[in-house]
Amino acid sequence: MKLSGYEAWLRYDKVKDDQLAAQYQAWTATIAAGSYKQASPIASAINELQLALPKLIGITPQVVIEPSVKQFLAIGVVGSSAYLDESLIGPMAALSHNEGYVLKTITKDEQSYLAIAGASEQAVLYGVFHLLRLMAQGESIDAISLSEQPKYNLRMINHWDNMDGSIERGYAGRSIFFNKNELLADSPRIVDYARLMASIGINGMTINNVNVHRPETFLITEKLLPQVAKFAAVFRSYGIKLFLCVNYAATIELGEVETADPLDARVKEWWKQKAKEVYAAIPDFGGFVVKADSENRPGPFTYGRDHADGANMLGEALKPFGGLVFWRCFVYNCHQDWRDRSTDRARAAYDHFKPLDGRFLDNVILQIKNGPMDFQVREPVSPLFGAMPNTNAVMEFQITQEYTGQQRHVCYLIPQWKEVLEFDTKVKGEGSTVKEIAAGNIHPYTHSGITAVTNIGDDANWTGHHLAQSNLYGYGRLLWNPDLSSEDIAAEWARLTFSESAVVQQMLVDFLMESWSIYESYTSPLGVGWMVTPHYHYGPDIDGYEYSKWGTYHFADHKGIGVNRTVASGTGYTSQYQPDIAAVYENLETCPDELLLFFHHVPYTHVLHSGKTVIQHIYDTHFQGVERVEYWISRWQQLEGEVDAERYNHILGRLQHQLENSKDWRDIINTYFYRKSGIADEQGRTIY
Ligand code: GCU
Repeated sequence: MKLSGYEAWLRYDKVKDDQLAAQYQAWTATIAAGSYKQASPIASAINELQLALPKLIGITPQVVIEPSVKQFLAIGVVGSSAYLDESLIGPMAALSHNEGYVLKTITKDEQSYLAIAGASEQAVLYGVFHLLRLMAQGESIDAISLSEQPKYNLRMINHWDNMDGSIERGYAGRSIFFNKNELLADSPRIVDYARLMASIGINGMTINNVNVHRPETFLITEKLLPQVAKFAAVFRSYGIKLFLCVNYAATIELGEVETADPLDARVKEWWKQKAKEVYAAIPDFGGFVVKADSENRPGPFTYGRDHADGANMLGEALKPFGGLVFWRCFVYNCHQDWRDRSTDRARAAYDHFKPLDGRFLDNVILQIKNGPMDFQVREPVSPLFGAMPNTNAVMEFQITQEYTGQQRHVCYLIPQWKEVLEFDTKVKGEGSTVKEIAAGNIHPYTHSGITAVTNIGDDANWTGHHLAQSNLYGYGRLLWNPDLSSEDIAAEWARLTFSESAVVQQMLVDFLMESWSIYESYTSPLGVGWMVTPHYHYGPDIDGYEYSKWGTYHFADHKGIGVNRTVASGTGYTSQYQPDIAAVYENLETCPDELLLFFHHVPYTHVLHSGKTVIQHIYDTHFQGVERVEYWISRWQQLEGEVDAERYNHILGRLQHQLENSKDWRDIINTYFYRKSGIADEQGRTIY
């Protein structure tokens, strides 16, 4: 079976330049690795070299303990051999992180070698991936001296996979972990997946959905733990810790205690025993991720307890084993009546959690979505992030393109995430960026980092759309180093994934860089959000919002549109930000255009900073969005023959679908607002 795209960015296409190939061969034909354990990150690192080098340069490297040759590659934990001595490695001393590594060419006693020295075994694996990345991009490795360490400690991926094999918000086939309530623990695909994740520095992963249904509740029982342990073993050898999502009411669901009251002694004891059982099966188990009191999931509210009570109950159970609880803050009343202006979904996370600051145990981490709503194409940054100095937190992004085109549209999300990371919350004065908060540099968190809902499934190319691989790749690279630019990440991904043609690479980088803005332009305007078909969240349905039986969330009438979230006359949401920021959003004059309708209700004739009225902006962007898709299709069509036919055609097919769907968006949105407002398009274009 030809699986074009299966290798993703680990394709390792043959190096065409003979001189470079000779250089690579000289450094890598012999690998000094000392002694190492099977199924360890070092073994994985060697395996990766053995997989890559035959493809890149047509050699099978010799792995030795003591090299007798003059030039070689030496890999291992710093200090583990005479070659990797700290005094030779030097820059290692500057690394504070146990996942950091050094790549350095060294000459000693008439031998020259390229050292990959890691602060830990896992770090060695990262170092090897770094070297292979350089080679796959045609960089010289003759004189290297570099050191790297990740910005974030927790670099997580969340899967929303169900045991029946379906994936909630999955757009790339079915689960690679489960099928028909069986665990696919022996599938070779798991190893390849672990390789992909380790290559971008992911070090933690949940495999099951945050919505834990009955079958997944059994993942923490003796019936299924041995299978779960198999997944953990694969991941362990790639430096990735396994976590599970648990059902908050597992005590009841499994029929063992009739309550899930977090203060009930039997419930506490049950979870303590459960933790013991889980750790007996998986000694390095990461911990639990919990969605409680959200979208009809059970939680502590049922018992009149708060979320600190709920999270701490689990935290206590995991503490003796070093386990963590990721407690999601996506808690809101999904049955809210949108006519009632005294409640506002956007306020919910902050209102629920902020008063609990300081009450959570040290192994509990709040998991906060990047925006106050739900992974829309445009949202302000969640005001909860950074607002709780005494509570560990991670940021949650969404790689899977739920609201951003479901991997049928191209939407490169790294620029969106970078905007979030660069946002200055000012919680501790200037410079309190999300980037630094998530690194634990603003508040001294014990645990911090970033997590995201992933976009993979069992499609041959993992992500459905070939170009959606760039979001997964970029996510990992951004977590390692958030100072990389979106463009550099895209370029690196394109070189690794489409190594055959520089023209294709450049086109893809340019297209990816524009794609978020294109998608935004023909979908929901100016930050108002949604407008998607209920439940599916794909395609236009302006008044569609699954939970709203009454009224619409965008408050559009014949005069205007938008949600008034001001303190002066709206829901007061703006007050959840620091005063400087609140003032910017509160004031119509200073509120950025792209978020205007998130914060304000304005007449269609309101003039934006861009000089256009709101209604004209809606018309223009929706026409332009479609034209921009047409433009990029024509650019792609010029590249036929530059890239293998399989990927060329697959991408073309998806782009054509995107075009048709973007026309639907354009027509439905323009018509709706034309009819509502009665205001004609200044340019007299046809609005149906
Ligand atoms: C969104 C999404 C759900 C998901 C939820 C969550 O609402 O549509 O499928 O369960 O987010 O993050 O928990």
